[in-house]
Amino acid sequence: MKFFVDTAEVDAIAELNALGMVDGVTTNPSLIAKSGRDILEVTKEICDMVEGPVSAEVVALEADAMIAEGRKLAEIAENIAVKVPLTWDGLKACKVLSDEGKMVNVTLCFSANQALLAAKAGATFISPFIGRLDDINIDGLDLIEDIRTIYDNYGFDTQILAASIRTANHMAECAKIGADVATAPPAVIKNMANHVLTDKGLAGFLADIEKAGIKIV
Ligand code: G3P
Repeated sequence: MKFFVDTAEVDAIAELNALGMVDGVTTNPSLIAKSGRDILEVTKEICDMVEGPVSAEVVALEADAMIAEGRKLAEIAENIAVKVPLTWDGLKACKVLSDEGKMVNVTLCFSANQALLAAKAGATFISPFIGRLDDINIDGLDLIEDIRTIYDNYGFDTQILAASIRTANHMAECAKIGADVATAPPAVIKNMANHVLTDKGLAGFLADIEKAGIKIV
C-alpha cells in the first residue's frame, strides 16, 4: 500500500520522506489555509521534495472554472494530481482533465455510487473519506471494501486513495482491504510504530544487559 502524507507542512513531509515513508502528498483547501502560505508556492515546494503524486485541490464550483484552475495547478509540476470534488461539475472537470493526460484525484467521496461515477469519468485516484463517515456512525472502512469490490469486478484502473484517516487502525484495515493508497496526517503514520509491549520488551532487554554490565562500544 502506498503512503501519502496528508498535510501542507513541509517540515513534517521532509521528516517522513527521509525514512522512505512518503509515496505522495495530499493537500486540500483547509490544509493549505492552515499552512498560512500561498497555494502555488507551497505546492511547488512540496512537488520539488517528493517524487510521487502531489494532490492540489481546485476551489471553483463550476466545471469550466475548475478546469481552468486545474490546468493552472497542473503547470506547477509533472507530479501534480488535480483534486476535484465529487460533484457533477467535478466529474465533468475530471473527464476533461484526465483526457488531457493530467492526474485527477476525485475527493469528498462518501458512497460506492460516487466512486463508480469517478472511475467512469477517468479519475486517477478516488478519495473516500473514512473518518468523516465514522463521525456520523457509519463505518467508513465498509466503503473502502465496497469500492474495492466494485473496481475489481470491472477492472477499473482508478486507484483507491483512502482518506480522512484518523487512526493507525485505519491504516492496517485499509491495507487488509487492499486500498492502493492511504493518505494520513504525519502523526497517524508515526503512531503506527507505537506498541506498549514493544516499549515494555525494550525496557526489559536494556535492564537485563545493564545488570550484566555488558556494553557494545
Ligand atoms: O484528504 C482529506 C483529509 O484531509 C480529510 O481529513 O480528518 O478533515 O476528515 P479529515
